[in-house]
Amino acid sequence: MCTDRLSINELEVGDAAELFGATESPEVGEFIGGSYSPSVQALRDRIERMRAGSGRADESWLNYSVRVTDTGDLIGHLQASVHSEWAEVAWVFGRPWWGYGYANEAVTWLIESLPSVGLWATVDPGNARSLRLLARLGFTETTVPPARDVQSYDDGDRVFVRMPV
Ligand SMILES: CC(C)(COP(=O)(O)OP(=O)(O)OC[C@H]1O[C@@H](n2cnc3c(N)ncnc32)[C@H](O)[C@@H]1OP(=O)(O)O)[C@@H](O)C(=O)NCCC(=O)NCCS
Repeated sequence: MCTDRLSINELEVGDAAELFGATESPEVGEFIGGSYSPSVQALRDRIERMRAGSGRADESWLNYSVRVTDTGDLIGHLQASVHSEWAEVAWVFGRPWWGYGYANEAVTWLIESLPSVGLWATVDPGNARSLRLLARLGFTETTVPPARDVQSYDDGDRVFVRMPV
């Protein structure tokens, strides 16, 4: 799957070392709990769990690697937990590739690839880059409805929603 500058594929266990290397800068972990992953092995294990899914019939977990087509560099990870009427989305990109619009391009692809459902995202209030990205993508701030279990929610996060057009 391709966009103008990016190649996007299902995330595989074999991507772990490269993705770990791309994302190990402390800046990447600043607003997502300290680090994206503590080790290559932990990331391998996590990718295996993500690929196995939740086991729930009403939920599917989608995970994609993002590469720059020209260089082949693995630069990020896109994630979506898709339910029948809504999906929760999240992303991580390596520090060297911030500031080029790659996340914007990749998440735009992700949104277009998903069924036409409401999208939810949570973000640490200090994460200015992710807040700008959400605004550019048409997300608006909301409150967490009690009936919705937003898995990526941490205390104090801001919650954003993007309704289908
Ligand atoms: C959140 C994150 C993906 C944002 O990355 P980003 O590169 O800033 O996001 P974008 O792809 O939207 O790029 C926007 C920047 O690229 C610039 N840019 C350059 N070329 C561009 C282009 N062709 N199109 C769009 N923007 C472009 C924009 O001007 C903007 O610059 P700015 O940072 O000076 O405002 C990244 O910071 C990240 O992975 N952080 C760590 C993990 C994390 O926090 N995840 C989110 C949890 S909610």
